[in-house]
Amino acid sequence: MRTPLSAALRRLVLGSAVALAAGALPGSAEAQLRDEYHQAPRDTVAQEVYDGWKQYNLNCARCHGEDVIGTTIAPHLLVSLKPNGPINTKESFVQVVCAGRPDKGMPSWCALGMDPPTIEKLYAYVKARSDAKMSAGRPARREG
Ligand code: HEC
Repeated sequence: MRTPLSAALRRLVLGSAVALAAGALPGSAEAQLRDEYHQAPRDTVAQEVYDGWKQYNLNCARCHGEDVIGTTIAPHLLVSLKPNGPINTKESFVQVVCAGRPDKGMPSWCALGMDPPTIEKLYAYVKARSDAKMSAGRPARREG
């Protein structure tokens, strides 16, 4: 037996489902939202880039900015890694991240125990962002 309350609830649920369907644009970023609080990743990336994204967020984002968008604390790495920027090779990136510039506030990551493969993953992520090959936010990991 249906009570008046459950009927009202049913109308409410059906009503919002219809409103959602009407609001969604097919094929658009909006249609890819899982729901309004949990957005789907915009990019699917190789394991190396995914690991780099994770390591960046653990170790670098607090100074260089979430999603590498820059801060007033540390250089804007998307600019540093441009072809005409000061860190325009993988070698120079690995070198400065390993050695750091402790007197200027950039930690020495090798001294802190970071290994070269991790620095190369960081490079893969920051370079992909600098080359505009991926957008801000959490990427999805390509399988296989
Ligand atoms: C405590 C803050 C801090 C953290 C954490 C930090 N950095 Fe830095 N980083 C700096 C500062 C400050 C500079 C600029 C030093 C200078 O004035 O030369 C810098 C410089 C750099 C540069 C050279 C940029 C250029 O244009 O010369 C690179 C590359 C870099 N950081 C990468 C990283 C990576 C990758 C991580 C994470 C593993 C990281 N940083 C974590 C503060 C930080």
